[in-house]
Amino acid sequence: MIKLLDLYCKAGGCSMGYYLAAKELGLEIQITGVDIEPQPNYPFMFIQADAVEFFKESAWNYTHVHASPPCQKYTPSTSLFRGKGKIYRDSLLEIKQAMLLTSIPGIIENVPSAPITPNLVLRGDMFGLKVLRTRVFETINYTATIIPQLPKKVGTVRNGDYAQVCGHGSKKGMSKHDKPFKHPGTVLE
Ligand SMILES: C[S@@+](CC[C@H](N)C(=O)[O-])C[C@H]1O[C@@H](n2cnc3c(N)ncnc32)[C@H](O)[C@@H]1O
Repeated sequence: MIKLLDLYCKAGGCSMGYYLAAKELGLEIQITGVDIEPQPNYPFMFIQADAVEFFKESAWNYTHVHASPPCQKYTPSTSLFRGKGKIYRDSLLEIKQAMLLTSIPGIIENVPSAPITPNLVLRGDMFGLKVLRTRVFETINYTATIIPQLPKKVGTVRNGDYAQVCGHGSKKGMSKHDKPFKHPGTVLE
């Protein structure tokens, strides 16, 4: 039985993905989500707590862990505030260090500009979505060769082919923040 801990779970989009994947593979899974904010719509067992503190105290209860720490410290969307002196907590580093002190296999997800190893790169249009939102995933305490090729983008944000969470997108179909990766296995455009 997989006992998955989903840290920084928000309303459970990621947890639901794991649930559906396990179902498709015929695997038994029990999911617990942790978030600092109340998440009344979270569909599995939920604990409101600081993710790092909870993990340090309770990691031994779980067989697998996923962490999607806030990206404000690294995303270009907050560079203006950081430039004005705003300091964001380095949740990514804190949770990564805590995860590395255990032997539990895990995944950390974040934005492309975050300092994590892009063992896996996923983008919205790979799943037929109208948002691009490239996200990188680092494997912790295990290695895996999971490097699907990013499909070549067709269309642009400006033409309305994709929705953008911030900014207006570029004519070439990428936002100025959506930079290509120097990583084997991904298609650079
Ligand atoms: C990037 S979102 C996670 C998205 C989520 N994985 C999903 O599938 O929608 C980050 C979440 O971290 C939560 N958060 C921020 N600081 C936290 C902390 N110290 N401990 C736990 N959760 C925290 C926020 O409330 C937010 O819901």
